[in-house]
Amino acid sequence: MSVIPFDQREGVIWFDGKLVPWQDATLHVLSHGLHYASCVFEGERAYGGAIFKSTEHSQRLKKSAEYLDFEIPFSVEEIDAAKRLVLEKNGQVDAYVRPVAWRGSEMMGVSAQHNKIHLAIATWEWPSYFDPAQRLKGIRLDMAEFRRPDPATIPCKSKAAGLYMICTISKHKAERKGYADALMLDWRGQVAECTGANVFFVKDGALHTPTPDCFLDGITRRTVIELAKRRGFEVVERAILPGELEGFSECFITGTAAEVTPVAEIGPYTFVPGAITKALLEDYMAEVQPKAKAA
Ligand SMILES: Cc1ncc(COP(=O)(O)O)c(C=O)c1O
Repeated sequence: MSVIPFDQREGVIWFDGKLVPWQDATLHVLSHGLHYASCVFEGERAYGGAIFKSTEHSQRLKKSAEYLDFEIPFSVEEIDAAKRLVLEKNGQVDAYVRPVAWRGSEMMGVSAQHNKIHLAIATWEWPSYFDPAQRLKGIRLDMAEFRRPDPATIPCKSKAAGLYMICTISKHKAERKGYADALMLDWRGQVAECTGANVFFVKDGALHTPTPDCFLDGITRRTVIELAKRRGFEVVERAILPGELEGFSECFITGTAAEVTPVAEIGPYTFVPGAITKALLEDYMAEVQPKAKAA
């Protein structure tokens, strides 16, 4: 692969309040965040120079840290400003934005009451290759073996690094079998989400999506629900059982990275991306464009 490894790129990274050369943004191997997964992050996209729902992402980052019992020592406003600064200094307009916060190295054990909390923000070019014809073919999903955990066992509302362990394993398994991603059930056996995106289904002109009671209620998910309601589509948030997959006509996934991506197959079930998926895909791509400033 000709992709430049992420630690060997050029540009700047915002690190604990300062801009540092990209390749100097390093941390010690004895970091609590690495050993004990005390690490939270965000995934955001800038379109035409403006980060879509930047403040919502910054608020979620702060909240994710609170779920892990630490406080990020920067305000939402400071994080928003830092993200804008990194994008500007890196000269990027269509980019992915990755803030990450973690516990440092002062103590190395389960307890890390007084470890320093670090925050870094990196950005990289990531144009949204939007070709509706190509996208409407739909991706193929495997069924994951791992399940989204019971909220009584883990802070499932946090966008925490530790929650992605089962996502990476599931995605690797799916990719080895030729699938693009995997659909995960939850601890009760209900349909939950993909390894990095939420899921929607269409039946008789209405949208059905699992209630986010043990997985991330994605910012894209909420945006798409709003767009669907604006179009007058009924949106039903409910428990969905895997046996129901056969009865849905369309399916798509949503996420900052995935945007709105139609699904053609989940294991033995097939879907035909149709009018509702297409309408929401187009509405979402219009919604993320930077708004012209009011005169
Ligand atoms: C596990 C998981 N679920 C859902 C989402 C969708 O969230 P959002 O739309 O806020 O990007 C993501 C992406 O961040 C994710 O990683």
